[in-house]
Amino acid sequence: MKPVRWLYGLVVLAGGLAATSLSAQLRRAPERLPAPVLEAPFTPKFEALAETKLLMEGLAQPNYRALEKHLQGKGPMDVDTWIFARGQALLIAETGNLLLLRPPRNEGRDTWMRRAMDMRQSAGELARRLGNRDLARSRTALSALTDKCNACHRTFRIPVRIRPGADSEPEP
Ligand code: HEC
Repeated sequence: MKPVRWLYGLVVLAGGLAATSLSAQLRRAPERLPAPVLEAPFTPKFEALAETKLLMEGLAQPNYRALEKHLQGKGPMDVDTWIFARGQALLIAETGNLLLLRPPRNEGRDTWMRRAMDMRQSAGELARRLGNRDLARSRTALSALTDKCNACHRTFRIPVRIRPGADSEPEP
């Protein structure tokens, strides 16, 4: 029986050594990674999956409404609210990027792109103002953003008018 126990001890020792060197290797792993194998250059392809309506209902509208609520509140905004609101403005700005992937197929393409970029620009500006916790300028920026939402809706005859302080209503 003795040789077996001896052998067993050796196996445990070897296992322990292997584990130690493995964990040492893992710790050093990042800088020891070899250069990646490069693939042939290719052009990534953007692909629109959601309907525009879904982006409006799921991204533009809820973030817009929440911002409006924050900025029209009577009391001062706390730190977390400023940070959260900035994030919401940035999500609207990013929605502008998503809209760029969904131009109408007719001749309105360039106008669509311009309207989407205008919205992205205004939402980015609003995010900067919120980042600076500047209430007055944030309110002005929100109203500029509202104009950009409506400019696109007007151009493409979408009967939805965005207004602070009101639920979006079809235009009369
Ligand atoms: C580049 C153009 C464009 C911009 C900018 C734009 N929208 Fe829209 N919006 C659309 C289109 C197109 C529709 C109609 C979608 C449909 O019904 O297929 C729409 C529809 C809507 C609707 C109605 C959705 C429904 O349930 O039918 C709301 C609400 C809305 N937008 C909110 C906003 C808000 C808020 C902003 C600004 C933060 C904004 N939109 C900016 C193009 C735009």
